[in-house]
This record gives sequence, C-alpha cells and structure tokens, in this order.
Amino acid sequence: MSAHLMNTYARLPVTFEKGSGATLQDINGKTYLDALSGIAVCSLGHSHPAISDAICLQSKTLMHTSNLYQIPNQTELANKLIQLSSMERVFFCNSGAEANETALKIAKKYGNQQNITNPTVIVMENSFHGRTMATLSATGNPKVHEGFTPLVDGFIRVPFDDVDAIQALSNNPSIVAILVEPIQGEGGVHIPQAGYLTALRKICDTNNWLLMLDEIQTGMGRTGEWFAFQHESIVPDVLTLAKALGNGMPIGACLTKSKASEVLVPGNHGTTFGGNPLACAAGLAVINVLESNHYIPAIANKGSTLLKRFKEALAKQTGVLDIRGKGYMIGIKLDRPCGGLVATALEQQLLINVTRNDTIRLLPTFVMSSEQTDELVTKLTNIIKHFLK
Ligand SMILES: Cc1ncc(COP(=O)(O)O)c(C=O)c1O
Repeated sequence: MSAHLMNTYARLPVTFEKGSGATLQDINGKTYLDALSGIAVCSLGHSHPAISDAICLQSKTLMHTSNLYQIPNQTELANKLIQLSSMERVFFCNSGAEANETALKIAKKYGNQQNITNPTVIVMENSFHGRTMATLSATGNPKVHEGFTPLVDGFIRVPFDDVDAIQALSNNPSIVAILVEPIQGEGGVHIPQAGYLTALRKICDTNNWLLMLDEIQTGMGRTGEWFAFQHESIVPDVLTLAKALGNGMPIGACLTKSKASEVLVPGNHGTTFGGNPLACAAGLAVINVLESNHYIPAIANKGSTLLKRFKEALAKQTGVLDIRGKGYMIGIKLDRPCGGLVATALEQQLLINVTRNDTIRLLPTFVMSSEQTDELVTKLTNIIKHFLK
C-alpha cells in the first residue's frame, strides 16, 4: 500500500501477481477463484492467450497514432460491433464513464438542435453511470453525489422498472432522452420485468426521445446475449459499452443509430487515446474469441444453472431474501448488511463483491470450469450459511 496513492479506495489486503483463466495468484503463491472478473471486465478470464498475443503483436507493430489519421483496426472493430448490435456508428473512448459522457453530449446536442431550452434526460433511481461530473449526476445513488454539488443539471429521476412513471412525463417538452441500464448492476442486480425496454422504446418513438442504454456492465455477452437489449426485440438509439470489450485493455464505446448518428460532427467531441490501434486489437481479439468458442449462448444456460444451484442450496436459509440473475450476473440479497463477506470469502480464496450493502454480486468469468463452478457454489453457500447462523 502506498501513502502516495490518492485515498479513493479501501483496498483489501491482497496483492495479485498473476492470473490464468478463472483464477488469480497472490504474491505468496495462493490461488483464488475469481467470481468477480475485475467487476465484469475479464469475462474471458485472466491472461487469455489469444488476447495477450493480439496485444503483444500490435504493441510491436504500432500502438498509437491519433484520431487525426485513419486507424484500420478501429474501423474493423466498429464494423464488428455494428454487425453484432444492429447499431450504425461508433465512437471509441477509454472507459464506461467516457462512453456515457458521449451519450449525454449527444442527448444535449440533440435537444439543442431542436431549440429545446433545457434538454433533460430521464434517469433511474438506484442507477450507476460513472464518476465524472455528468455521469455521477446521472447516477441514482445519493452517496455518489455527496460532496459534489452543484451537480450537472438536466436530469429527471424516476423509479427503475416503472413504465408509468416515464409515461407520466410524456408532456414535458424539455425531455430528449432516457438513459437506463437494462439490468442495474452496481444497484444490486435488478432485472426489470420482461417488456420494460420494449415499452421504453415505444415511449421514445412516440415522443421523439432517444433511448440510450448503458450496457457497460451487461454488454459483451454477460447476460447470455451479446447485448442485454437483445433479450427483447428492440434496438436502442444509443448504446454504451466498456468493461469486457477489452478484457482488461481499457476501451469504451458509444454506439449510435439513426437520428442519434447525425448529431456529433467534427469539433464536437474527441479523445487522444480512444480507439487507438492497441486497444482495438484487444477488442477485436475479444470478439473473435467470444464468437469462435460460442461462449455467449453457453453463458445463458450456464447462468440459469448456476442461479438454480444457488436457489436450491439456499432454499431453506432464513436471511436470504432474493436470489436473482441473468447469464453470469447474479445477486444474492440478504436481510442484513453483509459487506464483511468480501473479506471472509477472500480468506477462503474466493473473490466476490457486495453491492448496496446487502447484496452479494457475482460476475464470474465465462471460462470457469465445472469444478470451479462447484467450488464457487459450495464455498459461497457455506460462507452465507455461516454468516446468517
Ligand atoms: C452500468 C455502468 N455504467 C458505467 C460505469 C462506469 O464505468 P467506468 O468505471 O469504466 O468509468 C459502470 C462501472 O461500474 C457501470 O457498471
């Protein structure tokens, strides 16, 4: 630990030295099962050989030029993402917050183009969109706002998974867009009712609003489809990605369709690093591995099996309020604060996360073997049972 690092994280007392597949090894040689994947980043596991090779090769060829020039593998990655998502255009950046900043700038300018005086975006209670000023203002968690007033304005907040609350805002002339996570991740793995996104799509079409989906956590196969919106038959106007797009190489993307594609023009937005040859080589390798190994359809099945196993193992356990999930995104809600379970699990060489104080969140790697899955279910079930005793 260094006194010279800014005091932004309460770090756990462990230092990892290397990783392979679904496991990490610390500096004392102890191996840990990673059921968090660096918070939904390393979906393909640690040190995936195809991704490491792609990064290694690209770094020896050309790492960075500038967005002032043509970048062939940026174009190739954009083409690939467009093909997978049915979107039309891509802006590459370096993180989730930057991808959402891009989306919010598109919404603001889209409103300004129509001479709307205070273009306003509908956002959700309990949401998470990032830590920059605009994205923390969009975030629906008072703790994230604390100490950072005045917030960026131009947001109206409604409860998540409440179509009527949004419908009720239809007559508000300042609204230009809805920004929503298809499944709330940081907020505790909340899955809306089936048809929620379809209903939002309809409201946006009727009112000429942009439907902007934050798939930074749910995208790239995490829920058993390339993108969570593909569980319903809709396509958004704006889609944001990051996290697993680079499997550890920092890369984010904001994708647009139809009217949202026409908003930004040269001089409106930019980035020095975003979409550089190195980051895009990683993104291309990630997509290639996901496609060629058919990981994503498998995650839909493996995810429901894992969920079922937790439900069975904890069926009679008092203190477990809910077990929910989609694909490899699972939340186990307890009836009490359980943040301490992260350290307990760490002692037992298992990496998990607790969000919103009372919800254990699992975001395992797609490469977890069946033995490792057994280990995860057995260890975590015992930890929870012991804790609730
Ligand atoms: C849904 C969602 N949006 C945005 C972000 C912010 O991404 P980043 O930390 O890469 O800025 C996160 C990160 O957890 C997220 O889960």
